[in-house]
Amino acid sequence: METLLAGELKSFGAQSPRVAAGGVGFSGSWETCYRANLWSRLASRVLWCITEFEYASEDDIYAAARAVNWFDLFDVNRTLRVYVTAQKSPVKSLEFVTLRVKDAVCDRFRDDVGRRPDVDRADPDVRVHVFLEDKRGVLYLDTSGEGLFKRGWRMQTVEAPLRENLAAGIVMLTGWKFEQPLLDPMCGGATLLVEAAAMARGRAPGMKRSFGFEKLDSFNGVLWKSLREQAAQPAKQAPKLALFGSDSEATALTAARRNLAAAGVERWVTLEASDVLSRKAPAESGVMIANPPYGERIGESEELSRFYPKLGDALKNNFAGWNCFFFTADRRMEKLIRLQTARRTPLYNGALECRLYEFRIVAGSHRG
Ligand SMILES: C[S@@+](CC[C@H](N)C(=O)[O-])C[C@H]1O[C@@H](n2cnc3c(N)ncnc32)[C@H](O)[C@@H]1O
Repeated sequence: METLLAGELKSFGAQSPRVAAGGVGFSGSWETCYRANLWSRLASRVLWCITEFEYASEDDIYAAARAVNWFDLFDVNRTLRVYVTAQKSPVKSLEFVTLRVKDAVCDRFRDDVGRRPDVDRADPDVRVHVFLEDKRGVLYLDTSGEGLFKRGWRMQTVEAPLRENLAAGIVMLTGWKFEQPLLDPMCGGATLLVEAAAMARGRAPGMKRSFGFEKLDSFNGVLWKSLREQAAQPAKQAPKLALFGSDSEATALTAARRNLAAAGVERWVTLEASDVLSRKAPAESGVMIANPPYGERIGESEELSRFYPKLGDALKNNFAGWNCFFFTADRRMEKLIRLQTARRTPLYNGALECRLYEFRIVAGSHRG
């Protein structure tokens, strides 16, 4: 995903994007930052690097945080929360570091203006992130606020919904062309379909939400208004879309319907109740993308091992001409489905290692 994200960032005007594990570093103007927040389908957050420091103890981290001119960055009336993450760091307690950094920010404010900001753990105005490696730390201000996967269209969740940015990335990785029919036959709350439709219609994913940068002193309301106005313009060359979703559970379809409507893309998506094992293809050829259950629930694992060969048969019988992608953490799928794998892409769903499998279905594609 990082390479795709670097491409997205370049299109927003990012300078020298640098791909790292789990993220992309870049430089750019506030305009680039606002665009990345408003338009990125893949990023989880856009963090503004405030200071980098070497440290050996909690006191060094406190000193680095206290050295920042916080008063130039946000108003003392804003509420605050500090988040600390670490990799190979010698510090004993991340909770203690969190407290020390919060103290450093508050102490510095007290020195400068005689008052300190309040902490709000549930819905802070300003989020400070500290990342610690073994000897080096980085302190960021969060320009996104809530994670960017929160697009504001999810009305109802089903069990194990995909994150919106992961779903968008999966759709991109399949190479689906907007003119092609797209089917998710295990659609749950329709995350993949909403993201695919929004992408094809050129909708800005951040139009329905607010952002952390709006709470910072650097906020440029005029620039932000003009970027939002541009994003609200209807796409000039919107393709005709043929999206299809189905699920065997009525509750999932209710959630899908509500989410598609909230996202304003329901008119392009045909939903139906059906089992993937018996449903027919809605077009002669197209792209199927699905995210089957992973098998964490008791009994589900055995059920899935019986399901995969039947799925392979169903694809062969009903979906010749289709390119089928399955995103799962269950690595047994590849063998048990008994189809030739065209491609397998490793991806993470949070900390869970997953695969995106591609199977190209042609008549008689059964192995052996
Ligand atoms: C992990 S969830 C999909 C979540 C979805 N990607 C989302 O983001 O909301 C798996 C879905 O597969 C559906 N499902 C399980 N077995 C099925 C079958 N045989 N036919 C159709 N749908 C099925 C479940 O009802 C569930 O909604």
